[in-house]
Amino acid sequence: MFSKANQPRVMDGRFRGYAQSQLAASDEEIARVGPGTPAGEYIRRFWHPVYITEELGELPEAIRILGEDLVLFRYGEHLDKFGLVHKHCLHRRASLEYGKCEVNGIRCCYHGWLFAPDGEVLETPAENSKTADILRQRTRLGAYPIIEYRGLIFTYMGPPEQQPEFPVYDACLYEDMTSVTYKAPYKCNWIQILDAILDPTHTTYLHSRNSHPQFSEGMKADGVLKFYERYENHFLGSSTRRVGNNVWLRVNELILPNFTQAGSAFAVDGTQQCYFGRSCFTRWVVPVDDENSVAYAWANFGDRWDPHQYNTKEGHEMIEQGEILDRSLQEKKRFPADSEAVEGMGRISTHKGENLMPTDRGITLYRRRVRKQVRDLVNQIEPPQPIISGDSVVKTYGQDTVLTMPAKNGENDREYLARIGAAVMELQFATENGNDKNRDDEIVRQLKELEANGIN
Ligand code: FES
Ligand SMILES: [Fe+2]
Repeated sequence: MFSKANQPRVMDGRFRGYAQSQLAASDEEIARVGPGTPAGEYIRRFWHPVYITEELGELPEAIRILGEDLVLFRYGEHLDKFGLVHKHCLHRRASLEYGKCEVNGIRCCYHGWLFAPDGEVLETPAENSKTADILRQRTRLGAYPIIEYRGLIFTYMGPPEQQPEFPVYDACLYEDMTSVTYKAPYKCNWIQILDAILDPTHTTYLHSRNSHPQFSEGMKADGVLKFYERYENHFLGSSTRRVGNNVWLRVNELILPNFTQAGSAFAVDGTQQCYFGRSCFTRWVVPVDDENSVAYAWANFGDRWDPHQYNTKEGHEMIEQGEILDRSLQEKKRFPADSEAVEGMGRISTHKGENLMPTDRGITLYRRRVRKQVRDLVNQIEPPQPIISGDSVVKTYGQDTVLTMPAKNGENDREYLARIGAAVMELQFATENGNDKNRDDEIVRQLKELEANGIN
């Protein structure tokens, strides 16, 4: 017989590793974004930010967006205009990241061909042949249109005849707000990053209970969840929490395919009243390719946004995902944040390996809608663009509201929270056709009325 020290220590259980060892295939239909793929065609129907303006210097930059290798460059007399072209020169494929930025476009380093920002071949200096004339008339370098807006460079990579109007969001127009651009890279597919925005539950666990409160103590409370579909492309997830005598409603927001907002990161913790405080970020999750993405955003600061003290590089990273980005593996394991949660799923998560629960309803709803719009486009039905209302902007809902409304004796507080949450959302929906300033004033007035009069 073995001595006790030599006894094998058996960990007992009903193990299913072998039975489940074959990985399900990834969700190709909505995950793949390269040219010609169904989801790639879909996401190409929208404007996306692809660079932070002030980070683009006088030299061209090679960038990868939606699986395409591109070169972004400045041109013009003062190099204050922007062009985005396919990376490889039309002549013999030299990379235009080594090109020269000129008044009229970008010149290839190899034999000096000059390309206009729309790809027209302006000069082929070593070629005075008829062949070169014909080429200039018939052939263009691949190029995409650009709009520079509030420090971000946006492009549209779809068919020119389907190019939509550039949408301006109400969240960009507040005069008392300071907005600062930031970006955050993720080593994974775009869908699993988007999932987090319609998953208010992870705020309670990942960001609060499982390591330390990354945003606030108040987020430890389990919220009462409700999900909304507005029009065909606008999804909201509200979480209503009890913090002492206060009721805190936080709204996360996704406008398809990849525009996101939330409540504040640090300004609101449920202990102080707040009437329609607005999103800590205005943000897009942009696929670099199938396995990499970048969140481009404005971090928002001011009385109705996050405090100015978080307007630093580290502050932007904490607003984006709960912790700074550059940390040791040990720190990431002790205090995991969004990057760890979503990158840990693998480069492209396998949806068939999930077990979605009622709290995942927002994810189910929006993925189903993405899939529908991807399939519709295969059948030549164009996806809806963000709804631009009467005053020419897209109305958004990402916000925090905190009302002093103590629990009622003899009433189930979760049900009471659910009714208050629904009432706050309804009054926002009812005011969405007003112009921005009036809409906000009206929402705040009605919130105060709701707080004063209570709810049956
Ligand atoms: S490869 Fe670009 S000009 Fe020849
Ligand atoms: Fe998160």
